[in-house]
This record gives sequence, structure tokens and C-alpha cells, in this order.
Amino acid sequence: MSLLSVDVSQNGGIKNVDSSTSVFEMEEFDFSRLPDRPRTLNIERQRSFDERSLAEIPMGLSPHPPSRADNFNRVLDHLDSIFSPSRRSGLNTPRSHFGYEPHPMTAEAWETLRRSLVYFRGRPVGTIAALDNSEEKLNYDQVFVRDFVPSALAFLMNGEPEIVKNFILKTLRLQSWEKKIDRFQLGEGVMPASFKVLHDPVRNTETLIADFGESAIGRVAPVDSGFWWIILLRAYTKSTGDSSLAEMPECQKGMRLILSLCLSEGFDTFPTLLCADGCCMIDRRMGVYGYPIEIQALFFMALRCALVLLKQDAQGKDFIERVMKRLHALSYHMRNYFWLDLKQLNDIYRYKTEEYSHTAVNKFNVMPDSLPEWVFDFMPMHGGYFIGNVGPSKMDFRWFCLGNCIAILSSLATPEQATAIMDLIESRWEELVGDMPLKVCYPAIENHEWRIVTGCDPKNTRWSYHNGGSWPVLLWLLTAACIKTGRPQIARRAIELAEARLSKDGWPEYYDGKLGRYIGKQARRYQTWSISGYLVAKMMLEDPSHLGMVAHEEDKQLKPVLKRSSSWTF
Ligand code: GLC
Repeated sequence: MSLLSVDVSQNGGIKNVDSSTSVFEMEEFDFSRLPDRPRTLNIERQRSFDERSLAEIPMGLSPHPPSRADNFNRVLDHLDSIFSPSRRSGLNTPRSHFGYEPHPMTAEAWETLRRSLVYFRGRPVGTIAALDNSEEKLNYDQVFVRDFVPSALAFLMNGEPEIVKNFILKTLRLQSWEKKIDRFQLGEGVMPASFKVLHDPVRNTETLIADFGESAIGRVAPVDSGFWWIILLRAYTKSTGDSSLAEMPECQKGMRLILSLCLSEGFDTFPTLLCADGCCMIDRRMGVYGYPIEIQALFFMALRCALVLLKQDAQGKDFIERVMKRLHALSYHMRNYFWLDLKQLNDIYRYKTEEYSHTAVNKFNVMPDSLPEWVFDFMPMHGGYFIGNVGPSKMDFRWFCLGNCIAILSSLATPEQATAIMDLIESRWEELVGDMPLKVCYPAIENHEWRIVTGCDPKNTRWSYHNGGSWPVLLWLLTAACIKTGRPQIARRAIELAEARLSKDGWPEYYDGKLGRYIGKQARRYQTWSISGYLVAKMMLEDPSHLGMVAHEEDKQLKPVLKRSSSWTF
């Protein structure tokens, strides 16, 4: 039996998921009732690559209780209506392919996105973080790996893969640089947080400089960059059907180097990745050190992508095996220990402490007294989420947007968990979406806790920036998660809110306040990922088949393939 299928069969026993139903025994939506078109569409769009995921989009839509049937059918109707052989127009500003009148904001968004392009020796290699000249630039004039992801997806969706390919190859070159902070050398596989093109007008030359954490505020290496790089490589491959980029020996090596960093054996007792504070989108001290959900979810997603992209050659084989083992352990750990719903919360509330040995229920010795009061009110009757962090005697109960959306997209979340996450977002709309989508985390920390946890960071005061601020870029992740769970109406509501203000406000980086009503204290305007995040959300909603670039089927789909084939390349 394959490792993944072992994992699969254990899911039924997970205490937070309805224990009477194994995820994989769930009733499935009968797609045979659908006309063939969505399938045809996939074949057309994804061509030869990743054929194991042919049914990915339809299968990714989880079954629903009758109350949601209408919405679900709407998604299916939508899928059904999609077909346009001339979709890749290559026009500068794409038109709606599906008969919708494009929102006036999309033209402005495309124009600004194109103005943010960064060229190196005549070729576009990325997009600048912000086009705001009114504020001090700091490093917002750089191309950030994480920030480029929504830009890349927008270009892929618009049939412009070249820039994405250039970016992937350029960052790969940067990876091979020697990376040092003072006298300490970083791991070979570390990808940069950002890079910049330097023009020398005298010599008329261009050079690149990159930041691997040695210039970043706090001097933290970006753990997420390598994961995003692998995720983007798969999105590129899936969208274009061109597997030759991923198959290049240099790309294979780059991937293996990233994987070596996070699959190495050490003192770890958990399959999750131990991280320093500020090593991801939240790139300054915010109490996310330890095992932050953002990194764990991206780690899982990158492993799933790597499994598809790694070649079954002498070096690849060993990695494929290690990736499989880790996926197995990681999903078990996350689904058990990071998951919180009403039942689990009640269990923790009643935990005994100081338990020892294998029979311990409260394995990490979490003190029920450490449960924050807000979490009892926040938890709806129906719904749940992956909490922010789990470690020895530590549970960070904060809700983080990126990690939960990526958990849905990568199928780290079981279908029930994915539905529960969306249920929670619906029930806690005021708190998580409010006037401007979407809270980076909830709730904010304040007063004494803020002093201790952030080190008195004035940029991260309550309900601002990383501390409960609202980030428009997260709209694309929400939209993708909505489509995957068959609830596009949630995304539509959120997009409408964004459309009421984003352009008028000059596409800010983030909003402040409990409801996200105020343009962020130090927010840059014309923040590129606010712009591209909006575009991606719109394009995905118009053409849900784009979801295939960033979504993975549940493990169930992997199981027969892994069992069937002696080759791991699907
Ligand atoms: C801020 C954000 C970070 C982002 C960068 C560039 O530092 O915290 O996530 O990558 O700005 O936009």
C-alpha cells in the first residue's frame, strides 16, 4: 500500500472530523450527470501535463448539502458555459471571454500591472512590489518572490507565460549565489525574498542584486520563497502544458535544493517545519515563530507540486520517496493537531495536563487556562479552521487567512474541513471580511500582549498591517478557495466590497481597523499584489477552470495512481 493511501485510511479516525465517515467514503458528486464539456475543457487547457489531474476541477468541488445546491449548480453551469478557443488573445487588456462586461477597474488594473513590470536586459522578469512614489521606497522597489505569484497567475491566465518563465529562470540563477549573513552561510537552496535590477547609466550595464534575508528588516530568510517558487513552476507547467521548463536539469536541481532544506533530518519530533518569526508574508515579529500555519500549508502544497514535477531519475527517486513520507506525516499531524472546531475546542477546554507516555490525550501539554476568551465567541456552531501554531504547551488560536486558504487549495484540508473553513468565513463575515477583504489574521493583539509579542512594533499596532490588518491581495486566495469548495457566491460578495473602494483608494497594500475601513497607516498605494490579486480573483470567477493551476485534488485521487503506476511522473 502506498504511503499516501495509508494516510488516507487513517483519516476516518481523526477525532475532529466526523469520525463515522472516512473522508474517502464520502458521497461524491456524480459528474457523469454533467455534459462532457468541463472535462474536454481541461484536456484542451492542460494538454499533456499532469494528466492525473484531468478531473481535478470537477472533483475539487466538494459535495454539498442541499441548501447549497443552487450555488453549486451555478458553478457547474459556469463551467459548462466555458469554451473559447481564442481565449489567449494576447491583447494588452483582456476582454471578458464569457460575455460579461468587464468591470471598468480591470482595465486600470491591467494597465498598472504592466507599468509595474521590471525588465532585465530587455526582458520582463517580474513586477515591482509597489509603484508608489509618494512614500519612502525601502524595499518596495524590488521584485518580491511572494508578491510576484498573483502577478504571474494573472499573466498565465491571460496567455502570457513568457514573463513567468523568465522569472522562474532568473530566481533559479539567484538561488545559486553564495548567501551570507555576516560570517554565516545560508543553505544552498534558499531562494531570495526579493531582487532588484541595478542600472549603471555610465557603463550602460544592468546587474541584479538579491536579498536572501541579509538586508531584510529583522534579517530573516524567507522560508516561503522556495515553496512559492515550486508552486509557481507547477502553475506554469499546468497552464501552458509545457513541461520542458520543469524538466530542465537546472530546475530539477533547484527543486531538490529547496526540498533538501526542509526534508533534512535533525532533532525534530514533528513533521512540521520549525521557523523563525517573520519568515513569510508576515515578515516581521508577530509571534508566528515555531510552526506557523502559513509555512506548514505552503510546505504541504509545495511538496504536492514537487511530487508532480520531480523526474523519476536517479536523484529524483530518493526525493520522491522522502516527499511522499513527509506528506503522509504532515497531513496526519496538521489534520489532527492544528484543526479546531467546536468539539475540539471543548475537548481542549476540558484537557488534563501533565500527562506522560503514549496514552496522553493532551500530547503537547497545553494548559486550558491558556485558551483566550475570544476564541469561545469566535467559534461558530458549524465551522472550523487550522489554528496559527502548535508546539510544546503552545497553541496560537489566531485565524490566519493565507494558511487556511492554501490548506483548502492543496487539499491539506479534508473536504469536510474545507467546508468548515468556508462555513466559518461565512459566519464570521464581519470579523474576517468586514468592509474590505480580507483579514491577514484574526484577532489583533493589543496592549501588554502586543508589547511582548511584537516587541512594541509601531507598524503592527492592533488592527493594522500584519496585526489584524485587511489585505486585498488575499482576495485571490479566498476566491480560489471559494471555487474549490463550490461557493463562488462568497467570493462574489468579497469582490464587490473590494470594487467599491480599491481603485478609488489607489490600490492600497492594506487597510486598518476592525472592519478594514481605513487605508493602512503606512500602506503603500499602487501595491502590485493588491492589483494582481484582484485581477486573478476576477479571472478565476469568470473562468473557474483556472483553478487547476493552483489547486490539488484530495489524496483520494492520488491513491489509485500511486498504486497503479511504477512511475511517479503522471
Ligand atoms: C511587506 C509585506 C510582505 C511583502 C512586502 C512587499 O513587507 O509584509 O509580505 O512581501 O511588503 O510587498
